[in-house]
Amino acid sequence: MKPRHFLSLLDLSADEFRQLIDHAIAVKKALKNGRLHQPLTGRVMAMIFEKSSTRTRVSFEAGMAQLGGHALFLSPRDSQLGRGEPIEDTARVISSMVDVVMIRTFGHERIETFAGHSSVPVINGLTDLLHPCQLLADMQTWFELRGDIRGRRVTWIGDGNNMCHSWINAARLLDFELAIACPEGYDPDPSIVEPAGDRVQLGRDALQAAQDADLVVTDVWASMGQEEEQKLRERAFADFQVNAEIMARARKDALFMHCLPAHRGEEVTAEVIDGPQSVVWQEAENRLHAQKALVELLVTGGLSTPA
Ligand code: CP
Ligand code: NVA
Repeated sequence: MKPRHFLSLLDLSADEFRQLIDHAIAVKKALKNGRLHQPLTGRVMAMIFEKSSTRTRVSFEAGMAQLGGHALFLSPRDSQLGRGEPIEDTARVISSMVDVVMIRTFGHERIETFAGHSSVPVINGLTDLLHPCQLLADMQTWFELRGDIRGRRVTWIGDGNNMCHSWINAARLLDFELAIACPEGYDPDPSIVEPAGDRVQLGRDALQAAQDADLVVTDVWASMGQEEEQKLRERAFADFQVNAEIMARARKDALFMHCLPAHRGEEVTAEVIDGPQSVVWQEAENRLHAQKALVELLVTGGLSTPA
């Protein structure tokens, strides 16, 4: 039987997405109350990181331990992948020894190739195209604080990047409105925008996009792998900073999210990210809980209620 992968949010149905959020909230509660939830005893995850990470690595590694399993960290520097062993061969070998693989890499086609040759589920821990695990945590955070997101208005300000793409996919699945403001030349991929239909609006005016928003979201101007474009991007994105003026256009009870790491003074001011509307720490913590729910679903094929 072919394994079930999670390369994009669209690998879940809308119902499954909501079930995962509910389960993540239950798993979080069990952990906080000191109750063990260990459906993955003896199971192993391999984590391949071709880019840096703090949250993704710690959340998957801690999460696997809490589920009763184990996670092992592989960097290209000290695995044969970094010395040119084909990704197809690496996938066959690693997946013959572990129960699930998490990959953070550059081109999305690398993870697709790996998944195509893996006998176990593969999880996207970020590619240049998508960052679906982050959206599981972000949606858990919204549901915990505000309930269902259906029909709400979310504003994305900044780059049409991997995070923006995953927000578009979340808008499709969970049925909310997404107003995107980004500078010309930095639009999200049309092949991701178009299927979202009128749920997604694309514009150039950040203040207009923020009007009446329930939630304002941004991300760095230069993603991993774009470091040499930093100066160019600082100029291109100068009018796309989330600051007090932007937040004043949103609803009074609007929240602010950022996947982190953040650059205060660039895409967001310290006043906003460290202010009362920001929920970035809860978002980061929820990476742990949401991914535990995801891994349980992929590895066991279901979600067992925590004791
Ligand atoms: N948000 C996120 O994925 O953080 P890391 O790069 O630290 O994993
Ligand atoms: N867009 C950012 C997200 C980091 C979690 C990047 O790809 O570097």
